[in-house]
Amino acid sequence: MKIFVIGSGGREHALTWKLAQSPKIKKIYCAPGNPGMAEIAECVDIPADKLELLRDFALKQQLDITVIGPDDCLAAGIVDVFQQAGLKVFGPTQKAARIESSKSYAKRLMAGAGIPTAQYAEFEDHQRAVEYLDTQKFPLVIKADGLALGKGVVICHSPEQAVQALRSMMVDASFGQAGRKVIIEEFLQGPEVSIHAFCDGHTARLFPSAQDHKAAYDGDQGPNTGGMGTYAPVPWVSAEMIGNIQTSIVDPIIKALADDGNPFTGCLYPGLIYTQEGFKVLEFNARFGDPETQSYMRLLKTDLLEIIEACIDGRLPELDINWSSDSACCIVAASGGYPGSYQKGFTVSGIDEAQDDPEVIVFQAGTKRENGKIVTSGGRVLGLTAAAKTLKESLDKGYSALSKIHFNDMHFRKDIGRKGLP
Ligand code: AMP
Ligand code: GLY
Repeated sequence: MKIFVIGSGGREHALTWKLAQSPKIKKIYCAPGNPGMAEIAECVDIPADKLELLRDFALKQQLDITVIGPDDCLAAGIVDVFQQAGLKVFGPTQKAARIESSKSYAKRLMAGAGIPTAQYAEFEDHQRAVEYLDTQKFPLVIKADGLALGKGVVICHSPEQAVQALRSMMVDASFGQAGRKVIIEEFLQGPEVSIHAFCDGHTARLFPSAQDHKAAYDGDQGPNTGGMGTYAPVPWVSAEMIGNIQTSIVDPIIKALADDGNPFTGCLYPGLIYTQEGFKVLEFNARFGDPETQSYMRLLKTDLLEIIEACIDGRLPELDINWSSDSACCIVAASGGYPGSYQKGFTVSGIDEAQDDPEVIVFQAGTKRENGKIVTSGGRVLGLTAAAKTLKESLDKGYSALSKIHFNDMHFRKDIGRKGLP
């Protein structure tokens, strides 16, 4: 089979790496891809937002299945564009992807299905939103309804901060259309857990649990990033908890989406928080997490292509999905200054040396090839993954291998996975 992977981050490198192990796959194309993906697939220079060009390429090359990485392609309706052309594609339709691209849609479905989440109100009128603040306790959380490059959530500790956030989103339109509508919700406290599930429209099969590290600096300090590292599984998330998450959160949302006429096919990624009242949903994502996927692909034993085909064909219940009982981690090496401004174009060395350990795999993200060398070209430059019998061993292997990688201003967190250790 010939497979197409859309995207160019560490997530897409990890998916491509796993797909490349499938005996059924003859060739993988990636658009636009990155230098790491280019070692195992053919990269084609089509940006991920050029949906029609991507479709035309898939038609011309007679590609069998397309796997979508980024949220904005899904929100723009790439799955619909491919399906209308008779192409098989792994991901939710534009309407089903609203579970991520419209927080108010997600909240409404959750309320209807009785899924635990923060209390909330939604507003399209700026004045009403400001007035509502008088009735609320602080801290509270203000969220732009639409996709805002991960920056559309503001935790407000004072009314002044909340007024400013509302003005920025609703009046100044800092996030464009995405902030025209806002959600104001209760502030929840507890550890966060990433859950992922393969979905075929009606059935969901959960991955092991994972934990991301969103803040830029150690100890969860500093601004939020796309994610500075992950590990899986999370030792304190028991099989019983996973069972509860399946029955009280994932199954009901899959049913609610299907009942609403938008069955969800693809990877569903609920972001959860473990409060004193149990797990509650912070958000739903309609795609694989980045960098969760990098850890996950190190643990998945079943052929990813088999799973993707079963999802697309609606026969997930027939399939056994097996995960290694090992632990995996992903430590992100970022450009100094990320998520703020940073310089690019620095030579990256040591990727091959880091991979001398067979249990270490480096997934590239913000890199490009220039004059035969790998240079930095983005905020999150690469994710170094390691797998081992225990979380401690995987972290030791990961950090030891990371010490071989160098580029100017390289920044990484030194405490990935620490919360999972005894
Ligand atoms: P989201 O994009 O909705 O997951 O929000 C991004 C981050 O904001 C989450 O990972 C949490 O750390 C934080 N967050 C979102 N909603 C809440 C909430 N209701 N209470 C506390 N923190 C929240
Ligand atoms: N791990 C954060 C995200 O993918 O949104």
